[in-house]
Amino acid sequence: MNEWAGAKGARTRIFCGVRPTGHLTLGNYLGAMRRWAEVDQYRADALFCVVDLHALTVEHDPARVRRLSRQAATLLLASGLDPQVCTVFVQSQVDAHVRLSYLMECTASDGEMRRMLQYKEKAAREERRGGSVRLSLLTYPALRAADILAYGTHEVPVGEDQAPHVELTRELAVRFNRRYGATFVVPRTVRPPVAARVKDLQDPASAMGKARARTSGVVHVLDEPAAVRRKVLRAVTDGEPDVSYEPERRPGVANLLEVLAACGGGEPQRLAGEYGSCGALKEAAAEAVVEMFRPVRARHAELAADPGQVDAVLRAGAERARGLAEPRVDAAFEAVGLLPRG
Ligand code: AMP
Ligand code: TRP
Repeated sequence: MNEWAGAKGARTRIFCGVRPTGHLTLGNYLGAMRRWAEVDQYRADALFCVVDLHALTVEHDPARVRRLSRQAATLLLASGLDPQVCTVFVQSQVDAHVRLSYLMECTASDGEMRRMLQYKEKAAREERRGGSVRLSLLTYPALRAADILAYGTHEVPVGEDQAPHVELTRELAVRFNRRYGATFVVPRTVRPPVAARVKDLQDPASAMGKARARTSGVVHVLDEPAAVRRKVLRAVTDGEPDVSYEPERRPGVANLLEVLAACGGGEPQRLAGEYGSCGALKEAAAEAVVEMFRPVRARHAELAADPGQVDAVLRAGAERARGLAEPRVDAAFEAVGLLPRG
C-alpha cells in the first residue's frame, strides 16, 4: 500500500461529510457531531464538509437544499467545531470534488456501482414513488470516493451503514494507484466508539434518520424544548410498566436508556435500576436531551443572527480545502494522461 500523498510526517487527516437532506438529529449529534467537536478536531487535521452535491441525487427543492446547507454548517460550528482548529466547508465550493469524481467514474466499473446496496434500495424506492432515478444516484459512490481521496485522507470515521462505501473508496484508490502510479492515500475506515445508535422513538427497530418523512419519532437538534419533550414523552415502549435494559426484547426502553446514558454519562444497564417506571425514564431522558441541546441552540441562534460570519468561515474553509485538494487532483489528471494545466 502506498501512502506517499500527504502522509510524510503529517498529522492524521480525517474527512467527515454531512448531507444536507434534512434537519440534523439527536442521532447525528450523539453518533457523530459531538465526537467530532470533542475529540476528532483535536486529534487530527480534520475536514468537516457539508456535502451538498450529494443532496441532488434524489428529487430536491433548491431553496430547501440552500437552507439546509447553511443550517448544517451553522450547526456544526454551534456544536463546537472551531474554525481555528479544523476546516469546515461546503463541497460545491471546491471544484476538486467534481473533477476527481469524473476520474473515479473512469476507474470504477458499472457493475460495482450497481451492486451497492444503498443504490438498489433507493432506486427501488424512487421507482415505487413513480419518479425517475437520477443517474447521479448510481454514480454517487464515485463522488463520495473523490471527497475522501482528494484530501489524502487517512481516516473516515463513519457509522456501520457507510462502511461499504469506504471499502469501495479503498478499492478505487488501490486500483488507480496500480494503474497510474502512486497518487492516493488508501484510507482506513475507523469505527468510532459510538455513544449511541439512536433509534426512531416511534419505531425503535430503525435508526433515527434525518430524511424521514414522519418526524414524530425524530428529535432534531434545533427542535424547541417543548417539542423535544413531547417527542420523548410519547416514545413507543412496550406497555410493561417497569424499566429494564434488554435491547432485543425491549428495544424502545433500551433506546431511551441509551440516549439518557449518552447524554449524561453512565451505563444503560445501571440506569435501568434507577427508574421505577417508563414514565419516569422518559421524563429524565427528555430533560437530559433538552439540557444537552440548550447551549448548542443558543450558539446556533447567535451564529444564525450573523450569517456573514458563517459565510466568512465557509469561504476560508473552502479556500484551505482547495489548497489541499487541487495539487493532488492535478496530479491525478496528469497521471491518467491528461495534459498538464499550467
Ligand atoms: P447521515 O445522517 O446519514 O448523513 O449521517 C451523518 C453522521 O451521523 C454519520 O456519521 C452517521 O453514522 C451518524 N448518524 C446518523 N444517524 C444516526 C443515528 N440514528 N444514531 C447514531 N449515529 C447516527
Ligand atoms: N455518505 C454520507 C451520507 O450518506 C455523506 C458523505 C459524503 C460522506 N461523502 C462522504 C461521509 C465522505 C464521509 C466521507 O450522509
